[in-house]
Amino acid sequence: MTVIDEIYQYDGKDAGSPAGHPRIISLANQKGGVGKTTTAINLGTALAAIGERVLIVDLDPQGNASTGLGIDRRDRNVSTYDVLIGEAPLRDAVVPTAVPRLHIAASTMDLSGLELELGTTKDRAFRLRDAIAALNGNAADHSDYTYVLIDCPPSLNLLTVNAMAASDAILVPLQCEFFALEGLSQLLQTVEQVRSTLNPNLSIHGIVLTMFDSRNNLSNQVVADVRQFMGSKVYDTMIPRNVRISEAPSYGKPVLVYDLKCSGSEAYLKLATEVIQRERELRTTH
Ligand SMILES: Nc1ncnc2c1ncn2[C@@H]1O[C@H](COP(=O)(O)OP(=O)(O)OP(=O)(O)O)[C@@H](O)[C@H]1O
Ligand SMILES: [Mg+2]
Repeated sequence: MTVIDEIYQYDGKDAGSPAGHPRIISLANQKGGVGKTTTAINLGTALAAIGERVLIVDLDPQGNASTGLGIDRRDRNVSTYDVLIGEAPLRDAVVPTAVPRLHIAASTMDLSGLELELGTTKDRAFRLRDAIAALNGNAADHSDYTYVLIDCPPSLNLLTVNAMAASDAILVPLQCEFFALEGLSQLLQTVEQVRSTLNPNLSIHGIVLTMFDSRNNLSNQVVADVRQFMGSKVYDTMIPRNVRISEAPSYGKPVLVYDLKCSGSEAYLKLATEVIQRERELRTTH
């Protein structure tokens, strides 16, 4: 039985999200090291650079998004754990970053115990959704985010289910490697399951190919396969393998701040414009 089957048994159908909220997008893939956090940080920075007001929610106990944006562990007095356990409102966990218009709710290792601690609490799948809804309806200075990006852990556990239940859409980073498609069908199945039980509004925003290396035949083959399999769901923009992208987090900086001119920064800016373009299309078709 998956975590969703279990939750569905206890929670029943409790779906629907409040109107007029920011676009909430989860970076999800249960495979580790595919570029979820890198994309959360740098897509978030690129969207903020274009003028959007962005909140990143770090939902991974590893806290890589928080560290990569320069948030010291000692400054994480209130974390996403406190929010999900119900001890603090989301706005108390939000801190500004060095990037204008980009805020983050940081995480700590405590998050890894959340699933056990929440047990079979009735609303356990909706903790994040409700926290974001309360954020939006309150505190004038925090109520105006246009994008919330949720960085998920590499697993399809209760944290990822909370992210999916809170989201309008999922953005899937897929690494250009041999096993790229392995696991994708399981992820899509989970999205389908969440849609039919917890969140009927959930859609797939798109799939972004990461760590692309044009000199590598395998990379090119993977791109061809993924595009054939997923069609227009795959963004035109691909994120190249770029050493500047991997160096930036150790300075606590997004790559756009670390080296604006490198190929990685250019790609994330391009991805941001593509994401906004898809948003426009979605709005006109609904
Ligand atoms: N385009 C890229 N070029 C070079 N290195 C990259 C690129 N994207 C990500 N990396 C590096 O690959 C590693 C994994 O990336 P990242 O942490 O974003 O993946 P993740 O999916 O969030 O991992 P996890 O599943 O552990 O949360 C990191 O060291 C990151 O710096
Ligand atoms: Mg990560």
